[in-house]
Amino acid sequence: MARIGVDISKAKKILINGGLIGMPTETVYGLAGNALNAESVSKIFITKNRPQFDPLIVHVASIDQVKEYVLDIPEKALVLAEKFWPGPLTLLLPKNPAISDLVTSGLGTVAIRIPAKTITLQLLGELDFPLTAPSANPFGYVSPTTAEHVNDQLGDKIEYILNGGPCEVGLESTIIGFEEDGPIIYRLGGISKEAVEGLTGTVKLTPHSSSNPSAPGMLKSHYAPRKPIFLGDVNELLSELGHSNRVGIISYKDHYKQVHESHQMALSKRGDLEEAARNLFSVLRSMDSREIDIIIAETVPNHGIGRAINDRLKRASAK
Ligand code: TXA
Ligand code: MG
Repeated sequence: MARIGVDISKAKKILINGGLIGMPTETVYGLAGNALNAESVSKIFITKNRPQFDPLIVHVASIDQVKEYVLDIPEKALVLAEKFWPGPLTLLLPKNPAISDLVTSGLGTVAIRIPAKTITLQLLGELDFPLTAPSANPFGYVSPTTAEHVNDQLGDKIEYILNGGPCEVGLESTIIGFEEDGPIIYRLGGISKEAVEGLTGTVKLTPHSSSNPSAPGMLKSHYAPRKPIFLGDVNELLSELGHSNRVGIISYKDHYKQVHESHQMALSKRGDLEEAARNLFSVLRSMDSREIDIIIAETVPNHGIGRAINDRLKRASAK
């Protein structure tokens, strides 16, 4: 098992020597390494069992540092950066040669963001290289939102996990790219479509796709627990599947009296979408470890961060 702690100098030492650490962010925990060190970047792909065609996100501490790694920041990108950084926003910007093809899987753009976790911003500020970090989960599984989640799955492969406490947002960053006619959302996440549009006007949303080679994070079956998950109307699914299976329920806020207390969890009893987002991944993990055969889940109201929650639920249930 890895050690969990708040020792920034230990984390620095490991990273400078080319090693990897578990790194907290406000969205999910990352598996971080030196973005400028090819060996560290390779280690990330191997440790996560991640295909090389799935590009990584680069993390920095300031907009000035972003400028060291990109050719240009379009005006609308700068508006979003100034509003939402540090925060759950990733921008796709034309990369300069400092960022290797290994990080971007050969794409001309680099995904880059400034995370909003104090301890991580301090770490990034003390390093003279950026950190590249995918979510710290085995490829295809649910992302970790606590240091313990990271330890459960990657603890035998890394030495140290920097502890930033539970993630405040709980869903990955919103990924936005730019074309001549404006911003495009490639992945829904911690910043809502509405919040982006408030600053830039209408944005396009890339359709769900499992065959979009430019954004494999859009893979349809992703963020999935090991137990089969069925998404839809809970009562209908219960009468369809409840007789022959031990069922667990993930609801938005309601309690279903047909199923035992210990086999159901609400994402937010008070019906708060932000709280539901914060709880989603740990609820999926927790359900995965209960003595049930299948998980039945319902979608949440489809606005604000609810859209990103529904997106993750759909991907988790696609098989
Ligand atoms: O919140 C987050 O973004 C977390 C924390 C750790 O920062 N990171 C994260 O990384 O979710 P990861 O690797 O699990 O997801 C990154 C996604 C992938 O789906 C990848 O396909 C997409 O970003 N991506 C990276 N670079 C890209 C690029 N140049 N163009 C399009 N998509 C890109
Ligand atoms: Mg991920």
